[in-house]
Amino acid sequence: MSGQSRVEVKQLNSLLDQTIGLLQQMKEDGEQTIELEPDVVKVLGEAVRPSAAGTPSPRVRQAAPPPASSVPKTVAPKRDAGPSVASAPRRSAAAKPAVKPVAVVVNSDSLPDSMEALAERIASCRQCPLHQWRTKTVAGAGCANPDVLFIGEGPGKDEDMQGIPFVGRSGELLTRMIIKMGYTRDTVFIGNIVKCRPTVNNEGMRDRPPTPEEMEGCLPYLKKQISLLKPGVLVLLGNTALQGLFGYKGITRHRGKWLEYEGIPTMPTYHPSYLLRNGGGNSKPFWEVWEDLCAVLKKLGKEPPAPGRVKPAQQALL
Ligand code: URA
Repeated sequence: MSGQSRVEVKQLNSLLDQTIGLLQQMKEDGEQTIELEPDVVKVLGEAVRPSAAGTPSPRVRQAAPPPASSVPKTVAPKRDAGPSVASAPRRSAAAKPAVKPVAVVVNSDSLPDSMEALAERIASCRQCPLHQWRTKTVAGAGCANPDVLFIGEGPGKDEDMQGIPFVGRSGELLTRMIIKMGYTRDTVFIGNIVKCRPTVNNEGMRDRPPTPEEMEGCLPYLKKQISLLKPGVLVLLGNTALQGLFGYKGITRHRGKWLEYEGIPTMPTYHPSYLLRNGGGNSKPFWEVWEDLCAVLKKLGKEPPAPGRVKPAQQALL
């Protein structure tokens, strides 16, 4: 075939391995589509297409070496990261290492001993790649000595814009539940596993759960917050909070069952956005969360609202 050039198998294999590594990483990141040069699509097609005899063709036999520019390209981040990070390098896939960038993990003990100073430290954090795409960090909000510390996943679009946790749709639901419990947002504390917004493709269109590396990098901040706030109870909202703090998977299996974090009773329950996606105020998961929150009140020595007073109010909850 004309136009072909002979390359060393080793060289092309290495290029394919890098490409596969990159694709795996993009898959883990939740990226749905990528742009590929037509040459690369052809090369990959040749590499995996079985030959007429039914045996796979050798991965690289017919492959012309893809030009350097033809390694998969991700879409460059569109978000303006703000003045403090404007000079941060924009990732393109060609420059992207095959190995996932690992967040630097700070030691909780080396963090400031006041919530205000801690929030400032978080605002200047550049430990993991998420800082490149944030508008604002979301350190958390509430009172200094709360009965309850609610822990969510991470900021969404509204939170990223405002720098305040749980202000979007799921935040409205959480706020109403907090009020039903007899508190306000100012008499509890609301935090998250990660303090910067993770989105699919880092494009700001759709949220995604943080990666294990992002969680690990950010966790010392939450741990420090817990040690400063000394809450009576922790409420873990959803899978990410459960996994981030305990390493456990499966909120359905764990919800409603008390855990203990550093001596603090900890209640895992569903995330409000899960409730919004699964039938809202009349749904079984909704009442399961309410049951969990009543158990939290009991643990704190408080009387949960009588069921008769809650039921008619369920419409107001959603
Ligand atoms: N979801 C979360 O988990 N946290 C927020 O702050 C907002 C939405």
